[in-house]
Amino acid sequence: MNIFLETYGCQMNMADSETIRSILISNGHHMTLEANDAEVVLMNTCAIRENAHRKIYGRLDILRPLKKQREQERRPFIVGVLGCMAQNLKEELLNHPVANLVVGPDSYRALPHLIDRIVQTNNQEIEASLSEYETYSDIAPSRIAGVNAWVTIMRGCDNFCTFCVVPYTRGRERSLPVSSILNELERLVKSGYKQATLLGQNVNSYCYEGERFADLIVKAAQIPGLERIRFTSPHPKDFPEKLLYAIAEYPNICNHIHLPLQSGSDRILNLMNRTYTSAEYLDLVKVIRRIIPTTTLTTDIIVGFPTETEEDFQATVQVMNTAQFNNAFIFKYSERKGTIAARDYPDDVSEADKTDRIVRLNELQHGIAFVKHQRYIGQKVQVLIEGDADKGIDRQMGKTEGNLTVVFPKTGLNPGEFITVEIAETTAGTLYAH
Ligand code: 5AD
Ligand code: SF4
Repeated sequence: MNIFLETYGCQMNMADSETIRSILISNGHHMTLEANDAEVVLMNTCAIRENAHRKIYGRLDILRPLKKQREQERRPFIVGVLGCMAQNLKEELLNHPVANLVVGPDSYRALPHLIDRIVQTNNQEIEASLSEYETYSDIAPSRIAGVNAWVTIMRGCDNFCTFCVVPYTRGRERSLPVSSILNELERLVKSGYKQATLLGQNVNSYCYEGERFADLIVKAAQIPGLERIRFTSPHPKDFPEKLLYAIAEYPNICNHIHLPLQSGSDRILNLMNRTYTSAEYLDLVKVIRRIIPTTTLTTDIIVGFPTETEEDFQATVQVMNTAQFNNAFIFKYSERKGTIAARDYPDDVSEADKTDRIVRLNELQHGIAFVKHQRYIGQKVQVLIEGDADKGIDRQMGKTEGNLTVVFPKTGLNPGEFITVEIAETTAGTLYAH
């Protein structure tokens, strides 16, 4: 059958979509780039915030006329919701008149069988049991050509931050075998990739037969031709110095650390079950900067967690001023069904306060990044070219080792190649070379 697959949410979902594609292709299906030609439309979805759910309901509504048309023509049309939202809402999704297939993140092997069954019976199908073992480590992902390859090293999460739905949608933490990860990295270097990003909900919890994340990344760094290794995300609570020394020592482990802060208030951090204080976080930032002085640092922050006061918010402002992040992804708290926070703490910060705080933090971060990135003016940076820049086809863009975006005049070089350019201008988000 012709299958159209679209992906929402995080990098882990992009990686999962490559596994899904591989499962479908090896069962004789054909992937198409147009929903209109497809007999099966699959959406690999996210559940992290309510707007992720809203987007999918909007998408299902858009597919309604196509579904009607196919019914009139008596042609098959399957609409499947996969991923975190499927796991989170399960049967509730089948009440939607368009969706007739619901499959959670640990059940992708069942997809071909479920699709066959719907074709035969025209019934709805749901498969959303979580597994303690499923890692898909025997399935070679089917990648769509690009500059970066996502490589899943672990699945699930055992942290239970009180705001987060992931432990419920992706289940218990489990690590893939070192050998299968290294084989996969070697395979993708052979197929032309120069950069891989190692993915896990908390990479520092990686553990396979006693080998930890720092051991794994050092082995990965020794693979010839793997010129850039990135990883996301580490949890601040268990960041080993060994990993920092590995990043400092191996030139192909990128000097960029994404270190989610979530809040600068110790009271809120405690309610979030983050298990560190703002002082411990800032100490870690100091150690990071001592061992890897050139590293960039980015973060995630939630504003408006239940009971957050202006004073709590000011504590976050202070930590941001001290930590001097290169970039921050700032979100309004969104209550998620089934989480500890949804059970114990009413969502009592008003929408107006959440908006006000997100605007103020974004302004603060913008100012910090603007000043910070001016220091690059006159410096030469190495860029891995990703493609044409958004604005104007006469320019290309790529990323520095620190994951900063660089825009420069078009060269004869292709995406996936390296270029060294001198930075002439900067904004809060982008470096420009003439
Ligand atoms: N509401 C808002 N933001 C959230 N995140 C996770 N759960 C929620 C939620 N319920 C944010 C965190 C996390 C990032 C991936 O998404 O900041 O680090
Ligand atoms: Fe990724 Fe989390 Fe969204 Fe699932 S809920 S897609 S793990 S961000």
